[in-house]
Amino acid sequence: MVKICCLGAGYVGGPTMAVIALKCPSVEVVVVDISVARIAAWNSDQLPIYEPGLDDVVKKCRGRNLFFSTEIEKHIGQADIVFVSVNTPTKTRGLGAGMAADLTYWESAARMIADVAKSDKIVVEKSTVPVKTAEAIEKILIHNSKGINFQILSNPEFLAEGTAIQDLFNPDRVLIGGRETPEGKKAVQALKQVYANWVPEDRIITTNLWSAELSKLAANAFLAQRISSVNAISALCEATGADVAEVAYSVGKDTRIGPKFLSASVGFGGSCFQKDILSLVYICECNGLPEVASYWKDVIKVNDYQKSRFVNRVVSSMFNTVSEKKIAVLGFAFKKDTGDTRETPAIDVCKGLLGDKAKISIYDPQVSEEQIQRDLALKKFDWDHPVHLQPTSPTAVKQVTVTWDAYEATKGAHGVCILTEWDEFRKLDYVKIYENMQKPAFIFDGRNVIDPQKLRKIGFIVFSIGKPLDPWLKDMPAVV
Ligand code: NAD
Ligand code: UDX
Repeated sequence: MVKICCLGAGYVGGPTMAVIALKCPSVEVVVVDISVARIAAWNSDQLPIYEPGLDDVVKKCRGRNLFFSTEIEKHIGQADIVFVSVNTPTKTRGLGAGMAADLTYWESAARMIADVAKSDKIVVEKSTVPVKTAEAIEKILIHNSKGINFQILSNPEFLAEGTAIQDLFNPDRVLIGGRETPEGKKAVQALKQVYANWVPEDRIITTNLWSAELSKLAANAFLAQRISSVNAISALCEATGADVAEVAYSVGKDTRIGPKFLSASVGFGGSCFQKDILSLVYICECNGLPEVASYWKDVIKVNDYQKSRFVNRVVSSMFNTVSEKKIAVLGFAFKKDTGDTRETPAIDVCKGLLGDKAKISIYDPQVSEEQIQRDLALKKFDWDHPVHLQPTSPTAVKQVTVTWDAYEATKGAHGVCILTEWDEFRKLDYVKIYENMQKPAFIFDGRNVIDPQKLRKIGFIVFSIGKPLDPWLKDMPAVV
């Protein structure tokens, strides 16, 4: 029986390994983590992450060929293949702070593998890492190997949160990079055999190590660039009376461009896009390519612009002040169908409104008050560290309340900001919401989930990203 051990029981390690266990009954999979609480949650009925379909998969294999454990050394020792899916946050201090990937957790994982291994192992990079990381990992493993043979593979993960299970069941591609030596090729084949249990062979791509590592950073950069492109156009739509949905549809009909990933929004969020583009920018700078670095940096600049533009629109529409006004925020997660709030645009929007002294009332169907308060108090990039190493819960922001009900959140509010595209926000009783709000009642839709015309008929003043402006907003000062 092939034995797999995965270091890191997070958003990637947990679902990925659960699907491998489901699809490969003859493989034993153990997921280990330094966070005792996280492993306890994986072993309970309340999994540590919300992901549609995940509960089912875990229930089918846990205790059969899928195990979650904190006995890291034991399970590394027994494994043939060790996946490493630990955090690779942006560095917060020292050389490259605010840009470079922090490989502290990766390096400590590699040293632990070298320390406890007593038999040959294939070590798989599952985390997203800077190109050439495998070389550094190889050096750590080989120089500490005590005669054991390690083969390093790069097997980056392309799943998106909210659709992780479906992405893993039916991936566009699986990418495996390895050394072009006989031993390297053998290792690539061994991993390919695992995926071949359910992924058609023509979707399993094999490359050299550096191509695989760089493809992951490039894919995320291309995806984020599409969003910044459509968001940049959304600003021009508002200025000219064009409708971004119509523009995106027409542009996306060109088969060379395609329709996906062209939804204008308040900005992209999530744990990957910003972090990985910053890492790419840093790598370009280190390789003497400042023009390439600046090209990719602008994708983030436009994203930051989109978020602050949204805040400015809210404040300027409401007579240039939101001081002491109740603003309801519907949706805090970085996208629908996840409880994940890492780098969610809602953090920046809320901080912007708090900067203008608003009182904010937040409702998200999957995010707790504790999480929201932590997010609003954490410093930039501090979130991307193992849960138990993050700063302890700081004092709550007094101007913020969190409810479990959209109607409660909007009661008595001057304005409503929709920041996540949860399906339930399309079906709310907006007449009821309008009746219970202060007048004039404003709604700022950062995800284009509501029909502006219908809401205007109710009486709302409506701003929707990239849509022709409400006559009210046209008279307000220009937003930059
Ligand atoms: P996460 O924070 O959810 O999980 C990482 C886990 O690793 C944590 O539970 C942490 O406690 C654990 N850990 C850290 N050091 C460890 C060690 N030495 N031994 C054992 N466990 C250790 O992060 P994630 O979202 O799963 O991301 C992991 C990696 O995958 C990152 O590099 C990320 O960029 C990449 N990635 C993430 C996604 C995504 O959608 N979240 C998608 C593709 C790739
Ligand atoms: C992303 C990549 O899609 C995935 O391949 C990679 O493995 C991890 O990073 P994820 O961050 O989970 O996945 O979600 P994604 O669906 O890419 O959304 C990222 C952000 O972009 C979200 O805030 C989402 O709301 C936003 N987005 C997405 C838009 O604003 N418009 C779009 O058209 C698509």
